[in-house]
Amino acid sequence: MGALAVLITLLALPAFAADLPQWPKAKGEACIAANDVMRREHPDMLKHQRDDTLRLGIRGAKASLKACVECHAATSADGHAVPVDAPGQFCQSCHSYVAVKPDCFECHATTPKATVREASR
Ligand code: HEC
Ligand code: HEC
Ligand code: HEC
Repeated sequence: MGALAVLITLLALPAFAADLPQWPKAKGEACIAANDVMRREHPDMLKHQRDDTLRLGIRGAKASLKACVECHAATSADGHAVPVDAPGQFCQSCHSYVAVKPDCFECHATTPKATVREASR
């Protein structure tokens, strides 16, 4: 099954069912949009934001990758941030389930409080 077909299957379920990936709860009161919107539209939200930032220098708009990581990186028992792309973590658990591999974290930090690791663009 392709990623899109899997996504449609995910969205068709009444609630995120038991056999789907489990992940640590996010920080903050709520996401930047409703869960079903986030599941469906986050790739486009992030890509548009990236294009705007790199081409036009716009900052501080809603869909920031840094903000995703700030809320969605878990904290381990010894107080360290766990990378969002580590096995079982929020972004990674779902992406491995649907077999997508965004290249974002080759440059972008996977834990809060850091910015892009090394700007090669
Ligand atoms: C080759 C390195 C590189 C890769 C790969 C990369 N980025 Fe970026 N990205 C940058 C740089 C450099 C900036 C500008 C610096 C900044 O804003 O912190 C940036 C800025 C951004 C921003 C705006 C700042 C923020 O944190 O919100 C977003 C959103 C973003 N990228 C999304 C993505 C997404 C999504 C992917 C993967 C599909 C990706 N980037 C892959 C280098 C990269
Ligand atoms: C202010 C904190 C915050 C920010 C910023 C944030 N999120 Fe969320 N996100 C949450 C919360 C809280 C939930 C509700 C589910 C939970 O508690 O884990 C959630 C839910 C989601 C869901 C749906 C999960 C499900 O159960 O269906 C996705 C997908 C998601 N976020 C992706 C992102 C992405 C991608 C970004 C960055 C563009 C982002 N989030 C930014 C806090 C945040
Ligand atoms: C509920 C499942 C789910 C969660 C959680 C999730 N994603 Fe995704 N993500 C997907 C699916 C499905 C796709 C593929 C969509 C497609 O192919 O159209 C995707 C694709 C992407 C893409 C585009 C990849 C590309 O190369 O085109 C980016 C960027 C992305 N996700 C970022 C994130 C980030 C960052 C997080 C964690 C904050 C996250 N996602 C959490 C399901 C999820």
